[in-house]
Amino acid sequence: MMMNSDEWWKKSVVYQIYPKSFNDTNGDGIGDLNGITEKLDYLQKLGVDVLWLNPIYESPGIDNGYDISNYYGINPEFGSMDDFERLLSSAHRKGIKIILDLVVNHTSSQHPWFKEAVKSRDNKYHDYYIWKPGRNGGAPNNWGSSFGGSAWKYVESVGEYYLHLFAEEQPDLNWENPAVVEEVEKIMDFWLSKGVDGFRMDVINLISKYPGYKDGPKKKGVQYGDYYDGVANGPHVHEYIKKLNSDVLSKYDTMTVGETPHTTPNEAAQYVKSDAHELNMVFQFDHMHLDYGKYGRYSGNRYNVKDLKRVMTKWQYVLDQNSGWNSLYWSNHDQPRAVSRFGNEKYRVASAKCLGVLLHMQKGTPFIYQGEEIGMVNAKFNDISDYNDVDAKNAYHVLLSNGESKQEALKILQMKSRDNARTPMQWNASENSGFTPGKPWLQLNKNYTSINVDKDLHSKDSVFQFYQQLIRLRHELDVITVGKYQLIDTDDDIFAFERISSTERLVVVGNLSTRKGVFEKHNLEKYTPLLHNYDNVLLNSERLVLRPFEALIFYKKVK
Ligand code: GLC
Ligand code: CA
Repeated sequence: MMMNSDEWWKKSVVYQIYPKSFNDTNGDGIGDLNGITEKLDYLQKLGVDVLWLNPIYESPGIDNGYDISNYYGINPEFGSMDDFERLLSSAHRKGIKIILDLVVNHTSSQHPWFKEAVKSRDNKYHDYYIWKPGRNGGAPNNWGSSFGGSAWKYVESVGEYYLHLFAEEQPDLNWENPAVVEEVEKIMDFWLSKGVDGFRMDVINLISKYPGYKDGPKKKGVQYGDYYDGVANGPHVHEYIKKLNSDVLSKYDTMTVGETPHTTPNEAAQYVKSDAHELNMVFQFDHMHLDYGKYGRYSGNRYNVKDLKRVMTKWQYVLDQNSGWNSLYWSNHDQPRAVSRFGNEKYRVASAKCLGVLLHMQKGTPFIYQGEEIGMVNAKFNDISDYNDVDAKNAYHVLLSNGESKQEALKILQMKSRDNARTPMQWNASENSGFTPGKPWLQLNKNYTSINVDKDLHSKDSVFQFYQQLIRLRHELDVITVGKYQLIDTDDDIFAFERISSTERLVVVGNLSTRKGVFEKHNLEKYTPLLHNYDNVLLNSERLVLRPFEALIFYKKVK
């Protein structure tokens, strides 16, 4: 199987930057664009090919930038357009591409369009948003917002409700209005013509709503964030995205990744199969849902390995059958830290590496969330006042009002809150980890004196150095990009698979538990270990013994 040169994103590793928490250069406690430029050497050293920046546009910051008030302006907290252009050209000089977050399911309620829209029903911008009359003196239907409460808000001046699937400060755009589509295309064109290399498209599968706005089925038990039944993958979504592709994306050399919650692999294939002409890949959520409970993501549950293997393998097989491409991730700004959730903090280094192996060796484009490359762990704040995220605060109150104790509610936030991943990047052991000379906008994880970039750069066998090697392997060995994925049947806690091309083969094995495990020999004689997170290999003629979170990559040339 060959790869086209315009499919560079297949051989790329993406690094996600949460700008607010990456690196502050002017002492206001908030990371900024110049801070990213300053760290490009570091990113180049790691070896990543693409940076995805979370939203950097003007925003009141109700949902940390996912509520945009001006799509053409840089949030002054992050710097200026000049700073952005400098970042982009410096990155390009180093061979690093940059993709931006495109948030067009909704705008901020402070966006001029919305400010106009609420003035009157016949204002030109009214129809940019989704308005419905109330029903029986209340909201138009029973949809909940992702952040709790109803998804509808009444506006006196127009006598109607508007839809907000997220916070009430994030009104949903009406994609049935061609003027909205035209505005979105203008925005995309503006950034692409500046040289940006593509987009991560926020909740892009929610943009087309089912007509009728029917009540969703009332799920028993789920009291929080249950809006999706009626809205994911709506009737016109493919038509809209195909249009963005043919009108704009196809004119540039881009990479696109759509965020698509509540999407099965078969539905995902409709976006990413090579002849769809829509998106290059999507973020799936099935592995994120493995530890959900009655309050959705806010649960004290832990995933189990058997289910993880099942869902990841299903995505591998189904997208491959449809000639689609996967994205691969353990964590991002909406999820807890990978080591804390899928690994084990007691085996921090081994489990960080094991997760790295199991993700980066699958077929697809791996995404590294800032700090993952040094094995950062959950912040686990002890007091609700330490949390910043609107979602965490709402969830906390919902948990309490459903009779959970404060302790239980906090325990859940410590496991699952989005703030766990949003604490400042840990650069070194100096005050505030070298993230800021001022007062950080969000507390640091207290462990920054022992877990930081500086330490990892200077110690042998660090998580950083391991990630460097994973990235280098992807660049060197084509089988990692093109090889067929095939699950190997093993004990429940061991995740093992092969990658098979016409010239090379990999056997990838990881023990995702704290117990010893056995990998029955898979004809490993002719293979050489390429990368390993323990010093020696416990292999005899029948079996390979795996210690807690031990992971290995075996390689063989076929021809
Ligand atoms: C996506 C973003 C998340 C945001 C939400 C609303 O899920 O990743 O951070 O809160 O969309 O824009
Ligand atoms: Ca700053």
